[in-house]
Amino acid sequence: MTSRSRALILSAAAALLFPQSRLPAASHAPVRGRNGMVVSADSLASSAGVSVLRRGGNAVDAAVAVGFALAVTYPEAGNLGGGGFMVIRMAGGESTMIDFREKAPAASTRDMYLDAGGRPIREKSLTGPLAAGVPGTVDGLLTALNEYGSLGREDVIGPSLALADLGFPVTDHLARALGGEIPRFAIFPSSMKTFTRKGRPYRWGDTLRQPDLAVTLRAIMERGAEGFYSGDVAARIVAEVKKDGGIITADDLRDYGSVERDLLVGSYRGYEILTAAPPSSGGVLLLQILNSLERFDLQRLGWNSSGAVHALAGSCQRAFADRSEYLGDPDFVQVPVGELVSKEYSAARLADFDSMRASPSARISSGDPSLADHQTTHYCVADRFGNVVSVTFTLNGLFGCKAVVDGAGFFLNNEMDDFTVKPGALNMFSLVGGARNQIEPRKRMLSSMTPTIVVKDNRPFLVLGARGGSRIPTTVAQIIANVIDFGMNVQEAVDAPRVHHQWIPDTLLYEKRALESDVVRNLGSMGYVLQEVEVTARAEALMIDSAGGWVLGGADPREEGYALGY
Ligand code: DON
Repeated sequence: MTSRSRALILSAAAALLFPQSRLPAASHAPVRGRNGMVVSADSLASSAGVSVLRRGGNAVDAAVAVGFALAVTYPEAGNLGGGGFMVIRMAGGESTMIDFREKAPAASTRDMYLDAGGRPIREKSLTGPLAAGVPGTVDGLLTALNEYGSLGREDVIGPSLALADLGFPVTDHLARALGGEIPRFAIFPSSMKTFTRKGRPYRWGDTLRQPDLAVTLRAIMERGAEGFYSGDVAARIVAEVKKDGGIITADDLRDYGSVERDLLVGSYRGYEILTAAPPSSGGVLLLQILNSLERFDLQRLGWNSSGAVHALAGSCQRAFADRSEYLGDPDFVQVPVGELVSKEYSAARLADFDSMRASPSARISSGDPSLADHQTTHYCVADRFGNVVSVTFTLNGLFGCKAVVDGAGFFLNNEMDDFTVKPGALNMFSLVGGARNQIEPRKRMLSSMTPTIVVKDNRPFLVLGARGGSRIPTTVAQIIANVIDFGMNVQEAVDAPRVHHQWIPDTLLYEKRALESDVVRNLGSMGYVLQEVEVTARAEALMIDSAGGWVLGGADPREEGYALGY
């Protein structure tokens, strides 16, 4: 055999063992801004945020304006009737999280979604007001404004009030989303009245006016959180809920309060990671995944090579196995966060990782930390003062529980499905419910939302998050690795096709073009069950180039994301 043919055989064998994926096709250049940037899922909402920045508002003012605008222009997920998490880092280095996650109504009970035989009744935690938690968005946005903003309510709610009052042109995306829901809206006359043209679907280019929502926004603008949690709007919420079998009361609304909590702080290859703490599981999962990934030389393995995907999948499987065992609302159950996100714990969890074989999920149980289309939306804001904000908020499912509060013009969430309806049962994201996340009155349901800020040399560097339920933390981890390990710019990092593994189901999902065919074959022979999917999750991100003086926006082409700088 000639040395040339021997070399050919050797390189073919090496390709089989460690196939290297090529980087994905070219992305367009990131959107640039000198003074600031908003990246959100909707162009009108991004514009509303930038208009607030231009008028001298800071990133928190703009984030609040974007939140209210999304409630008007992006009703599938933008909301007044849902909840979420806002992660803030101020220019001076102070950082915090506003937890405005919904809460279980006081009359809720552990088994409220089970039938007499103890079996989950799927529809009960998904459709209609019984599926709704007490909304947190209005209190959360206004708390952020009061504590960290610099403008008044008129300045930040004004743009969305105008959009609700005067209307805006329906996009193709919104027309399709609303049209597709008509059969499910049909049982709620208020939803039909608000989001159809007398029963017929809105078409692309039609003007959508929302006069009832405008009344609600005006009440909030004039009276603050009181304008939502008491008075006419609250009475309308209670009436709507009662009409369709829900249990939220006037007391639940009056008692609702968002909470300012310490962020979760971790690190990845020398970068500081600020992310959401419980009751979101997102930040814990993110840090566990990054801590594990740090133990692999991803650069050497190559972007989405079998070795790199194997490392990622193994890290994700182990983190998700812990999620269902250990995580829940920290105001109600003990959550060993410090242990779970420690580097030592991740090292111990990888002790049984075999570099040549997939770890069957059935053989991964939770560790012992004492040893060491559906809808949500994410947006990011950076201002010229050096403040950055990362927000993910949601109704849970597409248009939440599908019921619009009559006369108030907004959808209620179906976030109760994020609780454990029954230990071991799967929720709408196929997440396994654990005991610490069981329903209790006034408790917050576990989330996967992962609004995150990456800090480099004490300056904000990357601001990001995603929508997509359980696929959010794995998406955020991959974008961070794309930037830090693979040197991608923010747009390339968001565009790059992704993979996902969440322990159960024991399936490795991959987006089209995420994996070369030889990588798919190789992972299959290592024991993975693979499934190609259209989209894992949708992300929005921005990056700050401190040396060059630019803010760079990366909106996700998987949705109509819109980065706008100025
Ligand atoms: O809080 C959570 O984890 C879910 N309610 C988020 C839902 C979601 O991301 C749906 N997105 N497309």
